Amino acid sequence: MEYKGKTAVVTGAASGIGLGIVKHCIKENMNVVLVDLNLSGLQKSILDYNLPPSKVFAKAVDVSKEHEMIKLSQEVKEQFGNIHFLFNNAGISARNQLWKLTSQEWQNVINVNLLGVVNGIRAFLPNMIASKEKCHIINTSSAAGLFVGRAYASPYSATKSAVISLSECLFFELNDISSLINVSVFCPSAVKSNIVNKSDEKTKELGTDPVKIKMAKEAEFAKKRIASGMEPEMAAEILFEGMRKKEFLIFTDRKTKIPLQMRMEDHIFERNPTDPLYSHDKAKNMVFRNLLPIPRFRYLKYK
Ligand SMILES: NC(=O)c1ccc[n+]([C@@H]2O[C@H](COP(=O)([O-])OP(=O)(O)OC[C@H]3O[C@@H](n4cnc5c(N)ncnc54)[C@H](O)[C@@H]3O)[C@@H](O)[C@H]2O)c1
Repeated sequence: MEYKGKTAVVTGAASGIGLGIVKHCIKENMNVVLVDLNLSGLQKSILDYNLPPSKVFAKAVDVSKEHEMIKLSQEVKEQFGNIHFLFNNAGISARNQLWKLTSQEWQNVINVNLLGVVNGIRAFLPNMIASKEKCHIINTSSAAGLFVGRAYASPYSATKSAVISLSECLFFELNDISSLINVSVFCPSAVKSNIVNKSDEKTKELGTDPVKIKMAKEAEFAKKRIASGMEPEMAAEILFEGMRKKEFLIFTDRKTKIPLQMRMEDHIFERNPTDPLYSHDKAKNMVFRNLLPIPRFRYLKYK
């Protein structure tokens, strides 16, 4: 699919991966609608990176609010016409033992990571279908959506897995009505961004409790992984390469497949969950093993 002259909406565009996607869109000569809660962050990014004013439009929108997303889609249609790419990328995290996270903390993560994606699709997809133009929806999940869920990050793991599931459903639903609209799920491993800085404030309130110390170590580890992660521009480059090839799952690190395979084998062989970091570390020394191929497109017989 041609990128030049097309219009993209990118949520969570003020920093990290979203900003990397925006910069890549500009490189491809696209128009971009930058969406974030943080309008001053958006404006600063536009200035800092010299993004051409005629190609970008910044808008403060909360993806978790359906009415704001619908209003955005109407405004954007008036200003730019048809939208061809929707990057449902905004995301947050929350860390603690599952039962100690408040219902409000759970709700916040569900509202942004899961319903934010649903709101984006509900706001923009009907116009994409009506336009009869080639379009692509890209939902950002995470390698964490593919791995066995990590301790102390249950809302994040649960919502990121859900984004993969809903994208699979959408893939089949669109298959039945249009060959013009693609769906992909972006599953990055560590990419430099602000996500953990914002999400791990609680881990500062630690005492001598061994579980809290373990949680702090996990949080510190996550921070280090993100800080030493891939540059967002590189992640965006890999994403666009995957989109060009119409890949459904787009990884930034193919080693992600090892803990994924481990998880699937745990299910298939009815084993207890394997720690994904253990299997990820093992991946460094492992050759990717072949599973018995499961015939693809078995679902066709139901058509
Ligand atoms: N950085 C990584 O290593 C990594 C790995 C896997 C997946 N991801 C996913 O990538 C996406 C981008 O995260 P990032 O790492 O670049 O983090 P980030 O914190 O740098 O960027 C996220 C952006 O989303 C915005 N945002 C948060 N809530 C919002 C809302 N309700 N409405 C609109 N905007 C909102 C924030 O203001 C921020 O600018 C997230 O979905 C995240 O889960 C990140």
